[in-house]
Amino acid sequence: MLVKGSLFRAVNWHAESGGIQWIDQQRLPHRFEQVISSHPEDAAAAIESMQVRGAPSIGATAAYGLALAWKTDRKNFFDHWLPRFRATRPTAVNLFHACDMMQTCAGTSPTSSQMIECAQSYADSEVAANQRMGKYMAELLAVGQRRILTHCNAGWLAAVDWGTATSGIYHLARAGEKPFVWVDETRPRLQGARLTAWEFAQEGIDCRIQADGAAAWMMANGKVDAIVVGADRIAANGDVANKIGTYALSLAAREHGVPMYVVAPSSSFDKDCPCGGSIPIEQRDDEEVLCMDGLDGEGRVQHVRIAASGVPANNPAFDVTPNANLSGIVSEKGLWHGCDV
Ligand code: MRU
Repeated sequence: MLVKGSLFRAVNWHAESGGIQWIDQQRLPHRFEQVISSHPEDAAAAIESMQVRGAPSIGATAAYGLALAWKTDRKNFFDHWLPRFRATRPTAVNLFHACDMMQTCAGTSPTSSQMIECAQSYADSEVAANQRMGKYMAELLAVGQRRILTHCNAGWLAAVDWGTATSGIYHLARAGEKPFVWVDETRPRLQGARLTAWEFAQEGIDCRIQADGAAAWMMANGKVDAIVVGADRIAANGDVANKIGTYALSLAAREHGVPMYVVAPSSSFDKDCPCGGSIPIEQRDDEEVLCMDGLDGEGRVQHVRIAASGVPANNPAFDVTPNANLSGIVSEKGLWHGCDV
């Protein structure tokens, strides 16, 4: 998608250097910087530190990282690099699907180029899925239902290109419609305020950032026509793990009769996970809740503490929305309503 009028992906193979290139999402929106690396450990660390984040982008980075590991350190591929990438983050199942696929490919004794092609086709198929599910989502948003609310960043930064939840919004905009988006800021890491709103500004989509707590009130006042969010893992019964706060949104949406859709590719489905209760939920560092980054008056990024020192925090990174609270799950295969398992 567009950054200052030029096309970018969140992560891609960088043929000139024989390495991986990704956008450093920790620095956005104040700095746009890309990192290029030929070391698989840098790719694993980028997932851990959330320089690269969002379920499909995590999967694609792991796929490229494992292709790099095959190229540079083949003898340690199975014993070190596969477990290293699998341990980077626990909730988004796309990571594990990508690792499984690269493991299968490595089992055929491929050349380095074949492993890179495997990773490339993984990333390309994610992008194709995003485009396709966006078309379905755009059709579902009936004319007039154009005040859309989204949470976290399920945009192209999170999903290599196009985005999952945002893909339908981009399709509407390209068809000449004028969608409007309420962007939940998404505490504690502010992926909505920092990333989703930045994406929309680059693409000329009208949006407004709001505190997470404003969402239910906007619904109560009839100002939200539909909610679209992404997913980190979808259980076999259709329960969905996504960014913390999604569950609360679903309760308000049900109360106020606002349709709420999860938009996610097949790589976000986990058929081995029977229901939401079996999804591992990442617990992250207290510091993310207690501190914040921002620009000072001189344009320098500063890290500040917002709570009294010594007070502990609670920081579950994801929650689970029961399938019953959703209007449906849109993937590249169409609309699915979940099932009882
Ligand atoms: O912790 P993050 O920023 O990786 O969490 C991201 C989300 O929860 C997204 O909503 C999800 O990955 C969908 S991405 C298309």
